Amino acid sequence: MRESSFDFSTTLGSAWFPAPVFTASGCASSGRELSQFFPLDEIGAVVTKSVMLKERLGRPTPRMAETPSGMLNSIGLQGPGIDAFLAKDVPWLVENKARVIVSIAGETVDEYGVLARRLRSVPGISAVEVNISCPNVDNRGLVFACDPESAKAVVESVRRTLAGDLPIIVKLSPDVTNIASIARVVVDAGADALALINTLLGMVINTDTMFPHLGGKTGGLSGPAIRPVAVRAIFQVHEALPKVPILGMGGVRTGRDAFEMILAGASGVSVGTASFGNPTALIDVQNELKQLLISKGFNSVQEAVGFAHRPSKANP
Ligand code: FUM
Repeated sequence: MRESSFDFSTTLGSAWFPAPVFTASGCASSGRELSQFFPLDEIGAVVTKSVMLKERLGRPTPRMAETPSGMLNSIGLQGPGIDAFLAKDVPWLVENKARVIVSIAGETVDEYGVLARRLRSVPGISAVEVNISCPNVDNRGLVFACDPESAKAVVESVRRTLAGDLPIIVKLSPDVTNIASIARVVVDAGADALALINTLLGMVINTDTMFPHLGGKTGGLSGPAIRPVAVRAIFQVHEALPKVPILGMGGVRTGRDAFEMILAGASGVSVGTASFGNPTALIDVQNELKQLLISKGFNSVQEAVGFAHRPSKANP
């Protein structure tokens, strides 16, 4: 297979992207810093930091802790609020030719609906990520993704508001007993695609002070330490819902890591924590992924999606 005829594009619902590697929400804000290192139109899309209705200061510091092969963050959805975001960030991204997936997070079901309404007529948005799984909220009842009824209510509200205007990608939490059953609920409620996985809830205690290290006490664990959890979640959800596109994420550092998620069932892959240490990680992952797909004999990304589910000699 020649590189020039290889089809590197992918789709998430009705949204088309020329490449399958995306930023992970929260790890690149609105892309300004990364744009110093590569043109944003070279990647699939920028998934922006989850934005809420009002400006939000987030949790007390410290907000980060290093852990073996990963890190904990306790940001607490800091952000400018939807109005400032739509006034400044989306136009900047569009001017810079980035494809844009806007991530939204609400405190109530109604708030998600209001956020969705604000996005309806904004030009330049490819899709909406509905983040129902942020672990850094003081009331754990607000992790809508951990409760099927709440998850359903949020997605129904966004679907009703957006009608068919924009594809909806719902971001799920790995902190549940059966992620495939939650996936089914949100797809039945109107999700076009799923983002798997958000961070895992964790904690670090400083053994000198003998108190929790993070100001918010708990945080979300990301980085290579969680990649096997993400691969497992993607595999299980693809097995249960093979037609539903998945944006995979969780500890992707190399093209081979991205390839693993695609084999498990992801149609695209987000790179998050790796960008903090290596700002060109997205481009490195993308280049390596393309070479790997070609060297394995695939003609397109699509051909490789879920390949690991096929019967093999070892698993007939
Ligand atoms: O704390 C945060 O802002 C993290 C959000 C998330 O993981 O969804």
